[in-house]
Amino acid sequence: MPGQATASVADDTASAPFFGQVRVVDNRLLAQDTFLLRLDAPTVARLAVPGQFFMVRMPATADPLLGRAFALWDALRDLSGQPRYVELGYLVVGKMTRAMRRLRPGDLVEIWGPLGNGFPALEVDHLVMVAGGIGQTPFPALAREYLGQNRYGTGQRSARAARVTLCYGTRTASLLAGVDQFRRLGVEVRISTDDGSAGHPGRVTELLQQLLQQVSHPETALVVCCGPEPMMVQAARIARQHRVRCLLSLEAPMACGIGVCCSCVVPVKKTPDAPWDYCRSCLQGPVFDAEELELSQLVPESG
Ligand SMILES: Cc1cc2nc3c(=O)[nH]c(=O)nc-3n(C[C@H](O)[C@H](O)[C@H](O)COP(=O)(O)OP(=O)(O)OC[C@H]3O[C@@H](n4cnc5c(N)ncnc54)[C@H](O)[C@@H]3O)c2cc1C
Ligand code: FES
Repeated sequence: MPGQATASVADDTASAPFFGQVRVVDNRLLAQDTFLLRLDAPTVARLAVPGQFFMVRMPATADPLLGRAFALWDALRDLSGQPRYVELGYLVVGKMTRAMRRLRPGDLVEIWGPLGNGFPALEVDHLVMVAGGIGQTPFPALAREYLGQNRYGTGQRSARAARVTLCYGTRTASLLAGVDQFRRLGVEVRISTDDGSAGHPGRVTELLQQLLQQVSHPETALVVCCGPEPMMVQAARIARQHRVRCLLSLEAPMACGIGVCCSCVVPVKKTPDAPWDYCRSCLQGPVFDAEELELSQLVPESG
């Protein structure tokens, strides 16, 4: 159980997901209420691929009792070139993230992971990442992988994109987090804000619509999306309209992260004509092909 962590801080030999306590290296402000937490977690850094997540829990407290899921922002190497650190980006909204905001270098947190399937490694001409709110968090690692700047995991993943674009929308400019980092990687960043304080005034899905209108070879593009469910469903509908494959990284609430509690079920269908059923997002997801999700059950058509 999460509360019984015993694994060593630097268990660097395992190939199964890590479970134990790790030290905080850095916890820095990125934007309004948004932080980047760096953890000394060599096993997770070695195993994790973009789109996977890990659970975080505060040791020695029962409040909050349950861990929370956080996407891999990036995995970094030490000076000898070995995978060593993992980073996660978080927005302060509730109990866990308020506690995380107080973390200082040297503090311990309990983590388990990497978990979930992650994004597939594909070769495409144009990777279009669509993020709403704090949904940009799985994309720094994904962009680095597709731009050939880092390798992730222990398998032979082969991902490539000639062009990577981020369509990124928040309520207001002060919530935009990580934009400079994306630009430094070579990602073309297009911004929207609900209040018009930066970029396109309006919804991020409008940026996607504009972008996909210019795509002449839809079969060579890939849309990946993370954020509020209504935004993702709308993005999936736009991608379908333009015949571009679309993957959604869902953030269904998760209590265990390892397939035990069923708190994370999402509606899926194996074939277009099959009746929809539930599956556990922490095991079969969090990344799903939009075509295998029952979007009308995820968010009603009017939403
Ligand atoms: C696969 C996956 C990946 C994720 N990746 C990330 C990530 O990279 N970054 C990230 O920030 N989050 C991520 N999340 C979400 C994350 O797991 C947490 O759910 C989130 O950080 C909130 O946790 P919390 O304990 O701070 O908030 P909670 O206390 O659980 O609160 C959750 C929500 O309820 C609201 N709320 C809390 N208390 C009250 C109250 N008393 N009255 C009314 N409303 C209330 C909060 O405002 C908040 O919106 C991910 C989730 C999943 C499933
Ligand atoms: S989070 Fe417990 S089964 Fe998925």
